[in-house]
Amino acid sequence: MAFFTAMAIAFDPLRRLAKIFGTWQTAAAAIERLLDVFDTKPTLLSPQSPAPAPTTAPEITFNDVSLSYGDLPVLHGTTFTAQAGQTTALVGASGAGKSTLFNVLTRLVEPQDGSVTLNGTPINTLTLTDLRALVSTVSQDAALFDETLRENILLGREGLSDDAIQATLKDAHVADFLENLPEGLESAAGPRGSNLSGGQRQRVAIARALLRDTPILLLDEATSALDTKSEAIVQSALDRLAEGRTTLVIAHRLSTIQNAHKIVVMDKGKVVDEGSHTDLLARGGLYADLYRLQFRDGKQLVDHENRPKRALTAAKSQDRPQSWLPRLFKRWQRP
Ligand SMILES: Nc1ncnc2c1ncn2[C@@H]1O[C@H](COP(=O)(O)OP(=O)(O)OP(=O)(O)O)[C@@H](O)[C@H]1O
Ligand SMILES: [Mg+2]
Repeated sequence: MAFFTAMAIAFDPLRRLAKIFGTWQTAAAAIERLLDVFDTKPTLLSPQSPAPAPTTAPEITFNDVSLSYGDLPVLHGTTFTAQAGQTTALVGASGAGKSTLFNVLTRLVEPQDGSVTLNGTPINTLTLTDLRALVSTVSQDAALFDETLRENILLGREGLSDDAIQATLKDAHVADFLENLPEGLESAAGPRGSNLSGGQRQRVAIARALLRDTPILLLDEATSALDTKSEAIVQSALDRLAEGRTTLVIAHRLSTIQNAHKIVVMDKGKVVDEGSHTDLLARGGLYADLYRLQFRDGKQLVDHENRPKRALTAAKSQDRPQSWLPRLFKRWQRP
């Protein structure tokens, strides 16, 4: 009898102990992943005596840029110039290397050959901080935090007048949907911005970029996931955002880039043509082919929004050192 009583008393603490063990295992795995990140040595370093960063919208030149991801060649001597303060569009089939050019410009990846210059200054002579402070990016999946819209837009920026914030909300067409939210700017965006529609998330990202007010703007398929009405609204916000900046825009829907100052046509990592919409159509090359696929008599025919997402390369877990505890202690012991 005493045995059964002891069992009954011990059961609940044992069950809780097992639960704690589970939580402990999860925490251990998370710590290990964090340590992997902390222990990663940066491969891209800022120069010892950096060049001054441009203060106005610069001319951006890609000079003979070649890049491979491992064994996969992606850019083959890409050369073109985006004029200062103008909009240059990049078009080409999926996988042509358009987004990779943005990654090269922001030095997320380093080309094996060639260089990128801003007003003639190679980007690798600037500090990474200066370089990235020059650039704002608006892409299809705007990264929103599980915070209020105000926090998502200001990102910790202080000292902005209410008038400046209101003007930005209006220019980014955020004000349009804010009226319908009971808590306005204090509404929660939800995990990864899930309380908002795709178009609303993008308008929040545009408001952010307007406040950052950088001389370079990168738009990567910023309107491709939207219906026609939202696209028109976001497009008008983007046009406002692009004013006075050197803007590079990637778009699959050619309707959104017809007014670009210059269109650069890419095919398999090479620039195969460049010019205005009218020039390129008249020349009858790849751009004219792409245009014919999307339009008939000036009317949009197909929608390119449901293109397959690229599979992410999973990190190899077997490469990870097994024991995280000694690593954690070692890190604490460092001066
Ligand atoms: N981080 C990476 N690691 C390995 N390969 C990559 C990586 N990023 C892109 N690639 C590969 O490089 C090629 C060019 O990719 P990129 O994203 O530049 O194309 P894209 O022109 O932007 O295409 P899309 O129009 O589909 O966005 C593709 O074959 C892609 O699979
Ligand atoms: Mg891309």
